[in-house]
Amino acid sequence: MSRAVVFEEYGGPDVLKIVDVEPPKPGPGQVRVRVKAAGVQPFDVKQRRGDTASWAPATFPQGGGSEFAGVVDELGEGVREFAVGDSVLGPTSGTAHAEHALAKATNLVPKPGGMPWEEAGALSASGQTAHTALQALSVGAGETVLIHAATGGVGSVAVQLARAWGATVVGTASERNHDYLRELGATPVTYGDGLVSRVRDAAPGGVDVVLDAAGTEEAIQASTELLPERERIGTIAGQEYAERYGIRVLGTERSAERLVQLVELYETGALRVRIDAVFSLDEVADAHRAVEAGHVRGKVVLTGTA
Ligand SMILES: NC(=O)c1ccc[n+]([C@@H]2O[C@H](COP(=O)([O-])OP(=O)(O)OC[C@H]3O[C@@H](n4cnc5c(N)ncnc54)[C@H](OP(=O)(O)O)[C@@H]3O)[C@@H](O)[C@H]2O)c1
Repeated sequence: MSRAVVFEEYGGPDVLKIVDVEPPKPGPGQVRVRVKAAGVQPFDVKQRRGDTASWAPATFPQGGGSEFAGVVDELGEGVREFAVGDSVLGPTSGTAHAEHALAKATNLVPKPGGMPWEEAGALSASGQTAHTALQALSVGAGETVLIHAATGGVGSVAVQLARAWGATVVGTASERNHDYLRELGATPVTYGDGLVSRVRDAAPGGVDVVLDAAGTEEAIQASTELLPERERIGTIAGQEYAERYGIRVLGTERSAERLVQLVELYETGALRVRIDAVFSLDEVADAHRAVEAGHVRGKVVLTGTA
């Protein structure tokens, strides 16, 4: 048998339970992976609460987890990319918070030998979102990028990617995270009243691009005051304000090529994955509470099997 996190009704963290299930069978093109570590994201929390019911409804019993790292232990028909025993990382849809997960083989990449499991399991979702967003906004060398919620899962990767692509970064965070933001290579700015003038002080030459991962009206309104070109302002979290302020809503495009770029950057040392907290599968409700509180620095991770 295999253990998996599921919920059978929308609600608070206590609706999450661990159940024993038959290990899932990989379909054509899929691999089954023994999960070593899997990231917990705001999406997992929002889906469990029912916030995503209109566009990503739960199918009860619903699992969780969109990113993981682990060891391939069964191949579906036609899989040529990996062999049993390979260490991999990548995305899956709602099955990663479990001892076994299924994933499309062509979405996965080899895990670098020196990369800790927790970091490997937390790279792909936030990493691919940050990469997709900065690419969609055409961030280039010499530009100044403002990133709202720069110390979260997506923001932390976005800051480092923008730096690696030659941009200067101003990032918003509470003061307790300013040293962390400086370590990532950004100039920190506190969010809240007076945000616009603080960003102007931090970026006297102006801002060329904005990526919003905070999703607040404050962040989006400030962005439009700072940058008249609305097509260079994108949000991944503030869909409800995007139309009113005329800015772009950005999604995530997953591909192994994108993931390979992130892994290569990791191997050069230009990209770190900061792990804020690690929980066991049995502590999944606490992991959700940590993410739900909204102040994760980097990533929260569940460990699967030893
Ligand atoms: N569209 C997509 O494809 C997609 C994909 C992934 C994520 N998302 C969404 O993007 C958002 C960010 O995801 P994430 O994984 O990065 O979240 P996260 O890791 O939970 O973000 C936590 C960070 O948010 C910061 N923060 C909290 N309140 C803030 C505020 N009012 N202004 C600025 N920063 C604030 C915190 O900094 P302090 O602790 O310093 O306050 C903390 O570091 C979520 O809403 C998520 O659902 C969308």
